[in-house]
Amino acid sequence: MGEMQQIVLTQYCVGEPKPSDFKLETLPLPEPKDGQFRVRHVWCSVDPGTRSRLSGGDSYAAALPLGKPIDGFSVGVIDASNNPDWPAGTKVFCAGGWKTHSLQSGKGFIGKVMDVPGVPLSAWIGVLGVPGLTAWFGTKDVARFKAGDAVLVTSAAGPVGATAGQLAKAWGASTLVGIAGSDAKCDWLVNEAGFDFAINYKTTPDLDAAIAAYFPKGVDVLFDNVGNAMVNRVLPMMALNGRICISGQVADYNLTPEQTPGIVNTKPFITHRVNMQGLVVFDFARGFPEALGTMAKMIAGGQLKTQEERFDGIAAMPEAFCGLFRGENSGRRVVRVGAE
Ligand SMILES: NC(=O)c1ccc[n+]([C@@H]2O[C@H](COP(=O)([O-])OP(=O)(O)OC[C@H]3O[C@@H](n4cnc5c(N)ncnc54)[C@H](OP(=O)(O)O)[C@@H]3O)[C@@H](O)[C@H]2O)c1
Repeated sequence: MGEMQQIVLTQYCVGEPKPSDFKLETLPLPEPKDGQFRVRHVWCSVDPGTRSRLSGGDSYAAALPLGKPIDGFSVGVIDASNNPDWPAGTKVFCAGGWKTHSLQSGKGFIGKVMDVPGVPLSAWIGVLGVPGLTAWFGTKDVARFKAGDAVLVTSAAGPVGATAGQLAKAWGASTLVGIAGSDAKCDWLVNEAGFDFAINYKTTPDLDAAIAAYFPKGVDVLFDNVGNAMVNRVLPMMALNGRICISGQVADYNLTPEQTPGIVNTKPFITHRVNMQGLVVFDFARGFPEALGTMAKMIAGGQLKTQEERFDGIAAMPEAFCGLFRGENSGRRVVRVGAE
């Protein structure tokens, strides 16, 4: 009988997550029952939103209990099957968790990888996974983007932000500005990803003035990945009928409710009829195939630029995850947990 490995939570995270909050476990390889199949993972992702479930309290998804494997996204190959719709050898992406193998039944977040020349397997948990889908539906359905909008994206060099910005540009944004935490990230946004301007929020002395200078008529769409302080900052700069998509709150995930900044600049909701809405990407599941097919073609055709940072071995997952909260990643972090 074979073995598998997984990463479990050993203690609830307090503040910034640390690798010692996690532990690697080895256990017997599970066999699929009737209707089930087993996926041998090749790549697993680390996602900042996972942090919101590691403090012991519920967020938009239930808290992860101690001793349980960490939820996450995986792409790999079915290596044993008792389900005729999902035969062995099929390449799939799924919510497989921080594990080398997972049992699946074909329900929930799972799909067959489309073979698109020029698109690597790992992309199916990157821009062709939850980050790209969040960008697509956040921009199109939540921010209700329309051609001519002036768009501001925060954490813009991450996989969600970079994709949201590039989609907005492809769909006709008049101005596209990204905010990111290093000059290298800002250079990539402007020189590779086609953003009109990028602002390094860590070194710009007057961030309000720097943002406002690029939006003389106001911000039509704020696609926010960062959290309350950023929303509060941009609210007074919103244009009439401006829309804010609350995609994520990476600056707030490590804070307790008492430490989380409030949003007090609420007047523009009335004066400028600003609309602010959050999303859970899985609410848009029916549209996933169309969005994925279009973005896969855009990546293959070079119209959608992606950045990927690869780590080797499942033991590297905690460190890859913790680095997200120190701004170490440029683009999607994926970890190779098995041979391709
Ligand atoms: N709503 C949904 O259904 C959904 C689904 C998926 C993801 N999301 C959310 O989308 C957001 C972006 O996800 P992603 O995968 O693309 O990750 P990401 O943007 O790459 O997140 C990591 C980056 O966040 C920035 N960051 C970290 N701590 C920060 C802080 N204190 N203040 C400001 N920026 C900070 C850093 O970039 P800098 O160097 O620029 O600071 C870091 O590199 C996340 O908030 C995630 O939870 C939402």
